This record gives sequence, structure tokens and C-alpha cells, in this order.
Amino acid sequence: MSTQIRFQLNESDLPKFWYNVNADMPVTPAPVLHPQTMEPVTPDFLSALFPMPLIQQEVSTERYIEIPEEVRDIYKLWRPTPLLRAARLEKLLGTPAHIYYKHEGVSPAGSHKPNTAIAQAFFNKISGTHALTTETGAGQWGTALSLAGSFFDMEVEVFMVRVSYDQKPYRRILMETYGGQVFASPTDRTQYGRSLLAENPDHPGSLGIAISEAVEVAATSGGKKKYSLGSVLNHVLMHQSVIGEEALMQMDLAGEYPDVVLGCVGGGSNFAGLAYPFLRHNLLDGKRTRLVAVEPMATPSLTKGIYAFDYGDTACMAPIVKMYTLGHAFLPPPIHAGGLRYHGMAPSISALYKANYIEAVAVPQLATFEAAILFARAEGITPAPESAHAIRSAIDEALDAKQKGEKRVILFNLSGHGNFDMAAYQAYFSGKLGDYDYPIEAVTEAQKSLPMVAEMA
Ligand SMILES: Cc1ncc(COP(=O)(O)O)c(C=O)c1O
Repeated sequence: MSTQIRFQLNESDLPKFWYNVNADMPVTPAPVLHPQTMEPVTPDFLSALFPMPLIQQEVSTERYIEIPEEVRDIYKLWRPTPLLRAARLEKLLGTPAHIYYKHEGVSPAGSHKPNTAIAQAFFNKISGTHALTTETGAGQWGTALSLAGSFFDMEVEVFMVRVSYDQKPYRRILMETYGGQVFASPTDRTQYGRSLLAENPDHPGSLGIAISEAVEVAATSGGKKKYSLGSVLNHVLMHQSVIGEEALMQMDLAGEYPDVVLGCVGGGSNFAGLAYPFLRHNLLDGKRTRLVAVEPMATPSLTKGIYAFDYGDTACMAPIVKMYTLGHAFLPPPIHAGGLRYHGMAPSISALYKANYIEAVAVPQLATFEAAILFARAEGITPAPESAHAIRSAIDEALDAKQKGEKRVILFNLSGHGNFDMAAYQAYFSGKLGDYDYPIEAVTEAQKSLPMVAEMA
């Protein structure tokens, strides 16, 4: 019997609800603190940055939150996304494991990011926001928000980390095609950016810095502009749960259930989007799926960071949350997986990792490109360098299953395609790409400037 490769859902199967992990969290999350007073934040403080419906979602403990019809109508442009069996990769590896992947690269922006961008733009629009500001690393998030801005007729200002701005010019042009305005961060448009450029005119930037700039612009706009974050926050992770809800139905179509679910982690949204609906079954129905977050060795916040209160951004303007962090002052090495260059991790993922409900592994840059190329040649899709981390780990799981003679069912999230990441592939092929050692000295230095609220931990 030939192997079925694609597991497709109909438009009518598109989930009607997002899953909110807050309803089932087995560990109590720490409070979110104000960056100056270090007291728990009030909705008033958050409302300078976010519209009220998103603030309500952020703190909600309802298990399911209805997806508005307007958002579902846009999701239908690419959702439900396909689930595929990587049978050709299995064969190449000679593994008894079954490898499945959810293909989020089929969205118009090329990644999972529009799942939350569309939702955030919608809730901002109905709340009267005129313009959105945001940061972007690899350009995937900025592209998604620019797309969402064009659907809801809102201006979008994107602060793009300079090293990615230089490495990925085509992403910038795609953002501009959707109507986004893109600036290489640090910029001279903000007080914080100007202070950094004065110290170093060639500053490479970081996600933490770009967040600070986008937050500064929104916070000083007199309410006209709101800030939009592409990861980390509860509501963002919740919007991504459509991935896992669909995957549950599709695994059912495949007649299998995953032993292990994998996703790369920057701030954690695509991993949580796929993994949390499976976590729900672990918590409520006694399933025992392993949930593995895969991070780069150059920014290993889960595997090498400390679990502490820290700022979400570099300039200490964003709220303080309890998370695994390398220190908000840490400047990650310029790896090509720009979307994974973040010092912290979503608080819910951090809390679940601390309590052993999820696992984490760190993988080096060269090994992720080897995995990406193996996958591209076997399955035909060139993955984003970020997603290649999940592929690396899926391959390692499949090889481990082979060594142990186990039939393991592996599911990973292909969070995006890499069609705009050819400069990274070129660098790999020309031998210019290297591994970055874990920057222990820089991390130790950065962790010295954590806010002094550790006693509340
Ligand atoms: C393709 C892709 N995957 C993963 C990520 C990491 O983000 P998150 O951990 O929020 O999914 C990014 C971020 O830009 C991305 O572009």
C-alpha cells in the first residue's frame, strides 16, 4: 500500500476557537511587573501599548476564545495548512520513525506569523488604533504585520534588526509591497536608537533593541499608535494555537498520535501554537507526548539561561516578566536564524519548562543548515533557518529511534519557508558560515543587569 503524504482539512474544519493554555496551567504564572515601579502592571499601563481586547486575552483564564468571523475569513486564504508525512526523508534516514510536519510556510507572508498578525490588526482596528509599530528580526514578523495592516487599512512601522536588514533585503521589499514602512534598527527615529548610534554608528542591533524602539514610538504617540509583538505574550501564543488544533485533527486522519512534538523557539509562539493543544491532552487526558523546544546554541535561553524576572526589551521600557533569560543586555551573535535571536522566552513556556512539562535542546548553526539541506533535497521545501532548528531535532529524534529500533511518531512545525533566506544558504555553501560557541562571558555580564526582584521568584 502506498504511503499517504498529505493530510488535508476542509475550509469548514478551520478552528472556531483559540486554545488558551492559561486555563490549564499546572503551575501558577508569576505576575507581570511594571518596568519602573516593579509592581504588578495595571491594564492602564498596558493600554498605552495594546488595545483592550488584547489585554483581556492576555489575562484571560477561559479555555477557549472565539475567533472572530473577520479573522477566520482571512485565515481561509491559507488555512487549514497541510500536514505532511516526510516519507522521503524517513527513507533517506533509514529510520523506522514516522515524521510528520505542519507546513506553516504556505501563508502569504511565508510563516506562521500571520496567525497572530491578522488577529492583532483586527482587534486594534475595532479599538480605533491608527497605526501599529513593531520590531522584526528575520523580517517574517514584520512581513506578517505589514500584510495584516494592508488587509485592515492600517499603517505599520517596522523596526528591523540591522544585521537582518542587511542580510535580507528582499524581506524589506516584501514588507514595503504590503505597505509597511521599514527602518534599520537602531534608528535615529527614537531617543534610544540615537543613543546607541552615538556609541556605535555600525551597531548590528538586536530584537531587544528593536522592541525598545517600537515601544518608544507607540508609548509617545498620544494613543494613536499601538505596539504589536510577534511572540512571547500569552495572547500571541494563543492565536497560534490554530496550528495545533488543526494538527490534532490531521494526526487523527493519519491514524497516528505523536510521541514527540518539536518546534523551534525564538520567543516561543510557533512551538506553543503546535504544542499546547497536545499539552492539553497530556494534562487532561493522560497522553504522554514529549514536547521539545529547539533553540540555537548561540542564544540558548532555556538550556543555559536563568529563570528570573527580566525586561522584555533592551532599554528596560517593556514589562518585566519571569522567564528563562540570558539577560536583556545580551547581544546575540549574528546567526542567520534572525527570528531566534532573543534573550528571553515566553513566560508560560518558561514556567512549563521549569516544572518539566516540556523539554528543550540547543543545536548549533552548521548542523541546522545540514538538516535544512537534507530536508530540502528529500522533501522539496527550503526551510527558513529558524525552522531548520526543528528539522535538525526531528532528524536527531528519527536517528535515535533508528538506533534503538523504535517506531517513534515525530511531529514538527515547519514554521516558515526560506525562499528569502538565500543569502544564508549561499554563505553556507561557500563555507562562510560557522558555529558560534555559547557566549558564556557575554551572558554572565548581561545577567548582572537583571532587575532586582529576584526575591519575588
Ligand atoms: C520562520 C520563523 N520561525 C520561528 C520564529 C521564531 O519565533 P517564535 O518562537 O515566536 O515562533 C520566527 C521569528 O521571526 C520565524 O520567522
